[in-house]
Amino acid sequence: MLQSRFPKTLYLGTAHLIELVRRKGLPACIAGIARRIEADYRRWNEFDKSSRLASHSGVGVIELMPIADASQFAFKYVNGHPTNHRHGLPTVMAFGVLADVATGAPRLLSELTLTTAIRTAAMSALAARELARSDSRCMALIGNGAQSEFQALAFRDLVGIRELRLFDIDGAATAKLVSNLAGQGLRTRVCASTAAAVQGADIVTTVTADKAHATILTPAMIEPGMHINAVGGDCPGKTELHCGVLEAASVFVEFEPQTRSEGDIQQLPSDFPVTEIWRVLAGSAPGRVDAKQVTVFDSVGFALEDYSALSFMRDAAAEYGIGDLVDLVPQPADPKDLFGVLRVEPERAPTSPRAHMRRAAERM
Ligand SMILES: NC(=O)c1ccc[n+]([C@@H]2O[C@H](COP(=O)([O-])OP(=O)(O)OC[C@H]3O[C@@H](n4cnc5c(N)ncnc54)[C@H](O)[C@@H]3O)[C@@H](O)[C@H]2O)c1
Repeated sequence: MLQSRFPKTLYLGTAHLIELVRRKGLPACIAGIARRIEADYRRWNEFDKSSRLASHSGVGVIELMPIADASQFAFKYVNGHPTNHRHGLPTVMAFGVLADVATGAPRLLSELTLTTAIRTAAMSALAARELARSDSRCMALIGNGAQSEFQALAFRDLVGIRELRLFDIDGAATAKLVSNLAGQGLRTRVCASTAAAVQGADIVTTVTADKAHATILTPAMIEPGMHINAVGGDCPGKTELHCGVLEAASVFVEFEPQTRSEGDIQQLPSDFPVTEIWRVLAGSAPGRVDAKQVTVFDSVGFALEDYSALSFMRDAAAEYGIGDLVDLVPQPADPKDLFGVLRVEPERAPTSPRAHMRRAAERM
């Protein structure tokens, strides 16, 4: 029996999240999470931060991403398996938790696969708002898989992108993206190669999945004034940019110690200059300084963004009354009597098989 004095855990599963995003609207979720992320990055020094813990295999990675401030602890479980589509599974799957720092009680257990796509797009667009030219209207989108629609819509709403040039080695992925974006106020052009898509674009988003040192973008493709939003190079041994692209650009990162080993800058010496994006958002470092500068957001995904997204979804769920309360933690009447939750009341004790047989024999 649940006892109401004990804090229960709010459970938001996939069906809850789908209902929540449909009711609130995807643009409102992207914008709302972007606002939360920006506000949380601005109070960077209030967070207890660490690089994520990764377990690598030959085909992928499974990661735990913790972070805390004075009141809430958050973590995300997330994987990255680029060949998962062969098993009918997404490349990226995630769930996460928010807990009270004061007691350690878990308060939210939530899906984070859909939410990760929304928060990653919100983060990318937030960085581009500071780093791309303000007249940017055309974006090349290289890699048209699960994350791509969210990236497109976040850049439409937060950056003002109106035209997309698309390329994926899988033509079916691009056709899916074109179909999903129909009627969304974005002109889409399918291109024959990355080079063709990138030519003349103001912003280039790379969001491919390949567990390799790929070179999606080479120096010859880069034009003065471009902003590059590099999302898919996010793990040791998994990169998207030729090192010459980074060397010729101003590079911005999330949490420098994590990005040094996981981002595209893993290819460069450990003293290669980078700027943490929180400094730009807090106004203590410049973003773009001139129209010809090439900027790179070397995104790998940082736990703070999941903290922000989980907090947003919890509050939105409360607004719409969505979610279930679950007994994730045992709730004994006496907190020291955990054993007591196993105690069976005498009058309700089941008859042992031996006693049952003896009584049956007596009746015969
Ligand atoms: N930085 C972050 O915060 C963050 C968050 C989520 C996902 N990611 C990363 O983003 C990437 C994409 O994730 P997803 O969920 O969309 O994966 P996905 O597998 O659904 O889509 C990836 C697409 O990239 C395409 N692709 C692979 N190699 C390519 C190449 N050389 N040129 C063009 N296209 C190519 C694939 O055909 C596929 O359609 C992954 O690498 C993932 O790890 C990063």
